[in-house]
Amino acid sequence: MAHSLAETDAFAAFLADNEGKDLLRFLTCGSVDDGKSTLIGRLLYDSKKLFEDQLATLQSDSKKFGTTDGDIDFALLVDGLVAEREQGITIDVAYRYFATDRRRFIVADTPGHEQYTRNMATGASHSDLAVLLVDAQQGILTQTRRHAFIVSLLGIRNVVLAVNKIDLIGFDEERFVDIRNAFAEFAAQFKFESIVTIPLSARFGDNVIDRSANTPWYGGQTLLGHLETVKVEDGSGLKPFRFPVQWVNRPNAAFRGYAGTVASGNVHPGDTVVVARTGQQARVARVVTLDGDRERADSGTSVTITLDTEIDASRGDILAAPAHRPEVSDQLAAHLIWMSEEPLLPGRPYLLKSGTRTVGAAVSDLKHQVDIESFKPLAAKTLGLNDIGLVNLSLSEPIAFDLYDENKTTGSFILIDRFTNATVAAGMILFGLRRATNIHWQAINIDRQARANLKGQKPVVLWFTGLSGAGKSTIANLVESKLHLMGRHTYMLDGDNVRHGLNRDLGFTDADRVENIRRVAETAKLFIDAGLIVLVSFISPFRSERGMARDMVGEGEFLEIFVDAPLEVVEERDPKGLYKKARAGEIKHFTGIDSPYEPPLKPDVRLDTTAAGADELADRIVEQLRKGGYLGNGV
Ligand code: ADX
Repeated sequence: MAHSLAETDAFAAFLADNEGKDLLRFLTCGSVDDGKSTLIGRLLYDSKKLFEDQLATLQSDSKKFGTTDGDIDFALLVDGLVAEREQGITIDVAYRYFATDRRRFIVADTPGHEQYTRNMATGASHSDLAVLLVDAQQGILTQTRRHAFIVSLLGIRNVVLAVNKIDLIGFDEERFVDIRNAFAEFAAQFKFESIVTIPLSARFGDNVIDRSANTPWYGGQTLLGHLETVKVEDGSGLKPFRFPVQWVNRPNAAFRGYAGTVASGNVHPGDTVVVARTGQQARVARVVTLDGDRERADSGTSVTITLDTEIDASRGDILAAPAHRPEVSDQLAAHLIWMSEEPLLPGRPYLLKSGTRTVGAAVSDLKHQVDIESFKPLAAKTLGLNDIGLVNLSLSEPIAFDLYDENKTTGSFILIDRFTNATVAAGMILFGLRRATNIHWQAINIDRQARANLKGQKPVVLWFTGLSGAGKSTIANLVESKLHLMGRHTYMLDGDNVRHGLNRDLGFTDADRVENIRRVAETAKLFIDAGLIVLVSFISPFRSERGMARDMVGEGEFLEIFVDAPLEVVEERDPKGLYKKARAGEIKHFTGIDSPYEPPLKPDVRLDTTAAGADELADRIVEQLRKGGYLGNGV
């Protein structure tokens, strides 16, 4: 977000013009009806930093489209800057910037529609302060409470409650005080460092830039006055040194530098740094930039660091201050803000990106959802769009991190869908879970290779996937019989059977199916270790979990076999009479009817059950195993 903003020429010019001034980043929350666009427009307009041509357009636009009888309509200004959004600054958050003699400002403006949580999380990630807008006629609404909660969750400690449209309640002090007190009482639970409540009229300008004669009872600062003077040192400069390595710069054999942006603290040549994950230490030799070497790099600057000794660090590692090392764990407790239309499925493999590092991650436990109205924990099996939850995460490898409360950069992450690459959640790390770190792999003398050798075969998972009634179990059974006759060692895991035992607690919701397949994949992996040829016959409707099963075993140890039969055909066959029941509404979440099936994109084998009989298809699998050397010598 910040990167794309920094890349625009206009922004570069703005920074250059105002260099040396202190910078305040703030977020505005509220809906158009509260007057948010008008307020931002007025700040930009009255701080006289608008480009002249923008202003001219605004004046003529207001005459044409405005809703303010020919006055300048500031809402049009903000909406008029939509082009900025289209240049790819960000999808849902628009950044605007202005400056006064005292400070530079960057405003993250997030639309107030129903996707507010996601947008706010994006806008808030770098904000020092939040302006919560309320309509004086309405007072504190549910929306205000939600905004305050999310703002506090995202670690923003300074809040302005802008009580807008004060003109519409006749500049009534009593109403204003009621709103202020109501907010203060409810916000007490969020541990904000400062809450400043200001009566204002964005439309007429009262108490926005200049003190209003209409509110003689108000002795506080104007909005801009407060924004110019509020102290919001985020302290990132004072925090321990953190440098997530973006890439290793190695233009030739003589130079090896670590490129990235200082996330917190600072660094000088001569400082000792440590690779957070491994504990390897080295001294900083040089701090290099495009403009030459530097004696110091501060939080927020992009540099290349060279070290006096060769260490093993690569993209994703964090270089850190040795006296204050980040934590390292593969189990985390975190708050998640769910940002996807696709619900969270515990157990599903996602990618977790924290700083520059990406690892596999699954929610091992959804502790609870947070009720956004009452802020109380709610039992939940999944999170939907804009939901907030407390989860435990299990990662494929340990990562170095800080707690979000201590460092927003190294304490936050996003979750990414492995197939669509979409960001599905933003996360804030609460603590690392050390629970699992005292369980180590027990070294076993007889390994999988030894077991497989004794059986004279190469272990493999034959993963049969397809609709109910496609013929998975029938074909898998035939394959197993044939292998058995050949003296091969096999084991069969079948959906209907496993659901009577190991997975008897699971039903057919998406979440339960994910857990069903996760357990089966773990079990198949154990049988692989035992040296067996494992036949797995489950609908396994989701690509993600089939991908996870493949990733769990070694290269060449997994064959995805798509038992393909169109829905019309399996419905016609309906061997267990289940499709009929599903159509009649007697069975819910039935695959193919009211629950999805995601066919494999690149199966290792596709069996067309409408074109050949089960026996012939089974022979094909056996033949493939023979050719692949799975059945050992002499077969
Ligand atoms: S999976 O989707 O979680 O992989 P699994 O293969 O274990 O499903 O179980 C599928 C079997 O359960 C089906 O062959 C069918 O006999 C039975 N079944 C009962 N209810 C459903 C349902 N709602 N959807 C699919 N299969 C169901």
